[in-house]
Amino acid sequence: MNKILARDIIEKEKANFPKEKQRELKWLEESYSDFLCESEILKLKKQIQELKSGKPLAYILGNMPFLNCNIKVNKNCLIPRPETEQLVDILIKKWKTKVTPETEILDLCCGSGCIGVALNKALKCKVTCADISESCCDLAKRNAEANGAVIDVVQSDMFSNISKKFDLIVSNPPYIPTKKIDSLDDSVKNFEPYLALDGKEDGLYFYRIIANQSFKFLKSGGELALEIDEFEAVETMLKKYFKDVTMQKDYFNLPRMIFATLK
Ligand SMILES: C[S@@+](CC[C@H](N)C(=O)[O-])C[C@H]1O[C@@H](n2cnc3c(N)ncnc32)[C@H](O)[C@@H]1O
Repeated sequence: MNKILARDIIEKEKANFPKEKQRELKWLEESYSDFLCESEILKLKKQIQELKSGKPLAYILGNMPFLNCNIKVNKNCLIPRPETEQLVDILIKKWKTKVTPETEILDLCCGSGCIGVALNKALKCKVTCADISESCCDLAKRNAEANGAVIDVVQSDMFSNISKKFDLIVSNPPYIPTKKIDSLDDSVKNFEPYLALDGKEDGLYFYRIIANQSFKFLKSGGELALEIDEFEAVETMLKKYFKDVTMQKDYFNLPRMIFATLK
């Protein structure tokens, strides 16, 4: 039998792919390191078709790098974004100097668990991940195990099943206004879970809950770190219970993170 490499199959397909997809095709190629057996050839051909249909590469491969971790993803969780990596990177640098093994962090709306898992791995403190989706909770547990992290996972509609107080609550909640979901990229709206995107009428539904309830779940002097899409509106909401509200832009120079300390 002929010895076939992923590259041999992918080279023939390249012409059928738009320029912006060529890089993903290369990454797909790189996920195979040796000559392919019959079942791998079929698998690769199926993956190429999936990529052509617009399915994001992370869902096709089933995992992706996220800071110090390799995070498993599936159709029930959002694909972790670079701006979320940036948020976690900032938090690791900020907390490195003050964290103790007793520090408690809540990753609310955890999805794959990427935030909580990466924080536990880097900071070695207590981390709780919470999500309303049972499937996300399962995935967060599996991601912790696969990355050598130790976390608690709670299935919870926002704070409904949370009973502890934390030093830091971090959250990347759904923030796309319902009526804007239709105008998102096909690769997002056709493949990523609606539950992870839908921020209800004005995209701020979950921020209102966090702004009005998180103070009950924070220790004295506790901190909040949120990924955002709208700075002023969230800043205004937070000012009732929080001080030192600051904003950080992402790599695209857009307001993307907000940090605050309990009054
Ligand atoms: C934007 S995704 C963020 C996922 C992950 N933290 C990340 O940054 O990649 C939002 C997450 O919120 C979860 N979610 C939606 N409604 C929720 C609710 N009422 N309570 C808790 N989690 C919720 C979704 O299941 C989804 O996993």
